[in-house]
Amino acid sequence: MSDVVQSTIVDASPTGVPSAMTERPLRVAGITGLGYYVPRRVLTNAELERIVDTNDEWIRTRTGISKRHLAADDESTADLAEKAARQALRDAGVSPQDIQLIIVATCTPDYQGFPSTASLLQDRLQCSCAAFDLGAACSGFVYALVTAQQFIATGAAQNVLVVGAEVLSRIVDWSDRNTCVLFGDGAGAAVLQAVQPGYGMLGFDLGSDGSGGELLKVERGDGAGLDTGAEHIGLLTACRNRIIQNGREVYRFAVNVMGESALRALHTCGIASEDVDLFVPHQANVRIIDAAAKRLRLPSEKVFVNVDKYGNTSAASVPIALCEAREQGRIRSGDTVVMVGFGGGLTWASCVMKWV
Ligand code: ACO
Repeated sequence: MSDVVQSTIVDASPTGVPSAMTERPLRVAGITGLGYYVPRRVLTNAELERIVDTNDEWIRTRTGISKRHLAADDESTADLAEKAARQALRDAGVSPQDIQLIIVATCTPDYQGFPSTASLLQDRLQCSCAAFDLGAACSGFVYALVTAQQFIATGAAQNVLVVGAEVLSRIVDWSDRNTCVLFGDGAGAAVLQAVQPGYGMLGFDLGSDGSGGELLKVERGDGAGLDTGAEHIGLLTACRNRIIQNGREVYRFAVNVMGESALRALHTCGIASEDVDLFVPHQANVRIIDAAAKRLRLPSEKVFVNVDKYGNTSAASVPIALCEAREQGRIRSGDTVVMVGFGGGLTWASCVMKWV
């Protein structure tokens, strides 16, 4: 990817035979606008103590999570996505009519199958553009950034809206202490545009290992009610689909893949890990983040962590973290930022961006 700016493409005819008529340089996409939204309702560890056999101390020491935000009963993934997207568009100074493509990374779409959450968002924003959902669980946002880069590189799109949005609380089994303490709801969005040479996406690494699919999956529910006690604190318990995971195995996978994938992405653009200004990892568990940072030999001031406030918001976690990092002045123009996601599939995704 390091030579992407210098590369050329040859236009292909509709039959796939290169016409070789026009050559144009590939372009590089950068993030020019960011936005995020989390629902108002906060669920604390103390409230979880009332529905499963757990305690605040265990959750904080084993995961780093203190609280998470949950969508209201009438709030959907598209609602969260819309709020984050409008903020990102304002931040970039781009009108919805100028967007050519919307990608929504989500594993909790409003509808099973269709319409996609991206199409719902396209209608709400009144964009005239292509729109599709991307399913790569917690790696989804970084997968979507890399996908957007390909459209921008070829000139197929000038302005792409990438959103990570989740209402995971609807697929959490509130009777399972192994999983219900981990997840939260939220959305983050980014506008991508072509940027000047040397900036934007310099390298990436994407991967999948479906042989580990059973370790982390969403099982289809029959819609029957679950007797969990969660309704006492206002949580929906009619069991729809639910997250099932082998926590220990996912932990082992995550600790290895986060550091390794980030290093591969850095290798593709010839950047050393000591030259990274900020590492923005998927926020699943502070111990996983610490292990990845150690593998990359990054000091804690170069690692962004906000899992304590939001829990694991899957595809929304990296864009929410990017927004907060920038708000806190921890991402500035010219910084080298590395993002890494891992999750169900199993999947992983990393990218290196020189911030515009
Ligand atoms: N409260 C109290 N005790 C608990 C809880 C809880 N909430 N959850 C599990 N325990 C118990 C277990 O039952 C076990 O008890 P036992 O020894 O009597 O059987 C004990 O704590 C230790 O269990 P472990 O699984 O070894 O605990 P661990 O330290 O590994 O932490 C955790 C568990 C937090 C789930 C960890 O394994 C983890 O973070 N795994 C990765 C999860 C993850 O990141 N998923 C990503 C999803 S990404 C996506 O795509 C959606």
